[in-house]
Amino acid sequence: MENVKKTILSGIKPTGNLNIGGYLGAVKNWIKMQDDYNCLYCIADLHSLTIRIDPSVLRKNSIELFALYLACGLDPEKNTIFFQSHVTQHAELAWVLDCYTMFGELSRMTQFKDKSAKNAENINAGLFTYPVLMAADILLYQANLVPVGEDQTQHVEICRDIANRFNGVYGEVFTLPEAYTPKVGARVKSLTNPSAKMSKSDDDDNGTVNLLDPRDVVIRKFRKAVTDSEACVRYAPGKDGINNLMSIYSAVTGKSFEDIEKEFDGKGYGDFKLAVGEAVSDMLAGIQDKYKVYTSDRAQLEAIYRQGADRARYIANKTLTKVYKKVGLIAK
Ligand code: TRP
Repeated sequence: MENVKKTILSGIKPTGNLNIGGYLGAVKNWIKMQDDYNCLYCIADLHSLTIRIDPSVLRKNSIELFALYLACGLDPEKNTIFFQSHVTQHAELAWVLDCYTMFGELSRMTQFKDKSAKNAENINAGLFTYPVLMAADILLYQANLVPVGEDQTQHVEICRDIANRFNGVYGEVFTLPEAYTPKVGARVKSLTNPSAKMSKSDDDDNGTVNLLDPRDVVIRKFRKAVTDSEACVRYAPGKDGINNLMSIYSAVTGKSFEDIEKEFDGKGYGDFKLAVGEAVSDMLAGIQDKYKVYTSDRAQLEAIYRQGADRARYIANKTLTKVYKKVGLIAK
């Protein structure tokens, strides 16, 4: 029997606040995996530099996101939790991998095409090589599984291609990772535009519910959520708004869609929206209490992220040393 735990690596960019989409779709699943896998989670701060972000905002987001990882229940003893920029091997491996990644394949990345179309004034080289840095994040730790949303599966694919190409030349240096999309976990949509994902870079603040939003704000956002005119709480194709609210309510309470339909039989959307808002606020209250505790002790928070970086660096350094040796760089 295989008794070696598989390695998981994932990360979130600190470009905005963590919202319930990121929590229900990602972080909540990470918590469930902490006993069965060897897990590493980074704050992908270097990745957030591809867009112009105010340094003080980046600092605030980064520390906030780190504290939120902990407040959501990621145990820093069971998981390695760290800032990507604290482990310099990420940027170093990314350079080597850049030299094993083709211009053509990066040009085909849909995220690069989307982002450069949206930001025509800032199509920087970092945006172009973004998937290579992400490949370095994954390959440094010999990760087997990479939990990501659908928008990132192409990046995991190119990571495999790069690893394969490198291994083809130098032998089995890298473990080939696989994208891991957990079966459970809601794909939360924007409350104001329920055909699009709830995104931390959404310009419409009413569309996203942030983990640190106070109760009255959460209730208000759900009250204003876009729905249809049928006024019947029922999961059905085309009812994006109600489907989204039902998914959220189900993810938060554990109730099935059938249970929810029964619970709100004969009731209007107003009652349902209020119930979802209250359930989400109750869930957030627990996270926010823990968040306050973690952020009230900055020294402890620093100790936790330094320990995370130390652990990550140890593994990352082994891989990078091997890579440098394989390609023919002189050992230090
Ligand atoms: N690119 C990912 C996103 O935007 C974030 C990320 C950076 C990541 N490095 C990673 C995800 C490594 C998984 C593994 O969501």
